[in-house]
Amino acid sequence: MSENVHPKSTSLAEFEKAANEKLPEFVRTYYSHPGEGGQTYRDNCRAFKRYRLVPRNLRDVYIRDTSVTVLGSKLNLPVAIAPTSIHKLGHPEAERATARGAASMNTAMVLSSWSHFSLEQVAAAAPRGVLWFYLLFYRDRGRMKRLLERAERAGYTAIVLTVDTPLFPFSLRRKPVVYPIQFSLPNIWLDDVAPGLPGSTEHDAYLKKIVKEAATWEDVKWVKNNTRLPIVLKGILSAEDARTAMDLGVSGIYVSNHGGREQDGVPATIDVLPDIVRAVGGEAEVYLDGGVRTGTDVLKALALGARCVFIGRPALWGLACNGAEGVQRVLQIMKDELSLAMARAGCAKISDIQPSLVVHQSYYGVPPMAKY
Ligand code: FNR
Repeated sequence: MSENVHPKSTSLAEFEKAANEKLPEFVRTYYSHPGEGGQTYRDNCRAFKRYRLVPRNLRDVYIRDTSVTVLGSKLNLPVAIAPTSIHKLGHPEAERATARGAASMNTAMVLSSWSHFSLEQVAAAAPRGVLWFYLLFYRDRGRMKRLLERAERAGYTAIVLTVDTPLFPFSLRRKPVVYPIQFSLPNIWLDDVAPGLPGSTEHDAYLKKIVKEAATWEDVKWVKNNTRLPIVLKGILSAEDARTAMDLGVSGIYVSNHGGREQDGVPATIDVLPDIVRAVGGEAEVYLDGGVRTGTDVLKALALGARCVFIGRPALWGLACNGAEGVQRVLQIMKDELSLAMARAGCAKISDIQPSLVVHQSYYGVPPMAKY
């Protein structure tokens, strides 16, 4: 099938459909994988619809500015790219294309450790991009130290620690997985000669030996003390954990439930956001991902206190449809939709987006089971 599938898609829903038509069944399943029962996965999207916008009119919104500063970097829009693994399944240029797409829109991307290209190769592909690195916890702290130094040298500006994954697929799999294409994991293999291909029993055993599962606050503290880069904790859902993170001097709290791929039955991220924002009390920046699909979703998350939101699957849909250009287009759609939503809400700039803009539907007596 041609590379330029549906380059003219005008919504993220169209990109999802186009990507799903193009991708092989295996990849489609891997990317959409909704976790065990899919409750959280579905609720992430639905929850946004439980919040209603109360616009302010007759303000001068003819020109809107969607730019925002995140950990000191100015982004053209408050929508960045969440870390997702194995972009090679979606496009041969993999994470290099995603990084170029993000950089062309002047927004940030979090590179996953599970990437086909090394962190240096991705940085070289998007030299002006804002890049953060998702570091795995390893048993050998020397390995972590070397990766931290490499990320600093390559120009990454934050370290993301994903804290909602105490166990990984490699230690839970009962049978090997055969991926339809070959890929490498240079940010994990380092100088080792990793046995077997990713997904094989030998490779899983190797990962189990080097990756530290069930990391604790001690590991976060160690990372904090061993890098000059700001630390972002991804996967926070409780106000208590957010407070503990503040005591450790973490710079960013990233509210996430892994897009519903980890523990099923946890709340939608937009529902927990206000509690977390309150707990953080302005001591750190707060971000959110999970089910963000439209400009009004972004507006609601910002009104409830997120500084920036991240998209996971939508970036993969854009990548699968049309490489870097597809990622750029997905981000452009989000920017245009946000700008329009801001105009209709009476907001000319991001700082005009205030909590009073959003009301939970229960205020209007809408029954909780109402369907949309
Ligand atoms: C992910 N996610 C993820 N998170 C992370 O911290 N490290 C990772 O390597 C991955 N890998 C990954 C692969 C795939 C295919 C998906 C879909 C997701 C979770 C991701 O960062 C993010 O939290 C969710 O994708 C956000 O939800 P939406 O935007 O996909 O609804």
